Amino acid sequence: MQAPDFSLSGKTALITGSTQGLGFEIAKAYAASGARVIINGRSESRVMRAVRGIEAGGGRAEPLVHDVGDLAEQAKVFEQLCSRSGTPDILVNNVGVRLRKSLGESSAEEIQALIHVDLIAAMHLSKLAAQRMAQDGLAGRIITLTSIADRVARPGDAIYAVAKHGLAGLVKALAVEYGPAGITSNGIAPGTFATESNVQLADDPVQGPRVLGRNPLERWALPHEIAGAAVFLASPSASYVNGHILVVDGGFSVAF
Ligand SMILES: NC(=O)c1ccc[n+]([C@@H]2O[C@H](COP(=O)([O-])OP(=O)(O)OC[C@H]3O[C@@H](n4cnc5c(N)ncnc54)[C@H](OP(=O)(O)O)[C@@H]3O)[C@@H](O)[C@H]2O)c1
Repeated sequence: MQAPDFSLSGKTALITGSTQGLGFEIAKAYAASGARVIINGRSESRVMRAVRGIEAGGGRAEPLVHDVGDLAEQAKVFEQLCSRSGTPDILVNNVGVRLRKSLGESSAEEIQALIHVDLIAAMHLSKLAAQRMAQDGLAGRIITLTSIADRVARPGDAIYAVAKHGLAGLVKALAVEYGPAGITSNGIAPGTFATESNVQLADDPVQGPRVLGRNPLERWALPHEIAGAAVFLASPSASYVNGHILVVDGGFSVAF
């Protein structure tokens, strides 16, 4: 008898936007599972703080200071990373910014900026990573953080929902295009996690109780509760899971 294998030993994982929040939680979980993690963010000091945090916990981490929305630099930065650290076996598209506004309140520039960072940047980076993974014959894994907003929409949060619906499409498009090369693409759709970015929502006198009241588990998710899904999808145990989006929302999206 053999227990399922959840080890990431010998793997390198690039996690975009991993200086805080869910990205940092995923990086810690991957490092604890044996992977070398590439920490990414826009600020060198924040990236280095996260790298030191992983190392202090006994993990292996390297920095990648890069704004994923800078497509002019992205290919060069990714190539440099591959030369320095090898092609990542695992890419986690985690960067996701948000503008809590209705479509009617949003300018053309705001729409373009959010779709650019949340959707287009992930498409480009996934393409670069998948091509390198295929070229190097890696059993690569691409994991994309969507949201329950990849299937439903909340008033006052329009562009984010559009971007996340697009990312759900990206998960599937990558799965069919790169599956023949042995690369899988899956998504994680988090519900409401008590991360830094949700302080405003949790404290809102209307939205806070509304969010909690609709959740069958009647609580916010703790940040580390993303870890199991992220490790599973990257691990040998998920070798035949492709094109799937794993919802981690306490049942929020099935309740009404
Ligand atoms: N938290 C939740 O409850 C929740 C729910 C559903 C879905 N999600 C999704 O899960 C993902 C993570 O969410 P989160 O709440 O943990 O995010 P967060 O706390 O806002 O953290 C965002 C991370 O992305 C980095 N970042 C932002 N823009 C970047 C850019 N252009 N280039 C490189 N790095 C960038 C930030 O680093 P620097 O600021 O240091 O650059 C930070 O590390 C997002 O895709 C989000 O949509 C989260």
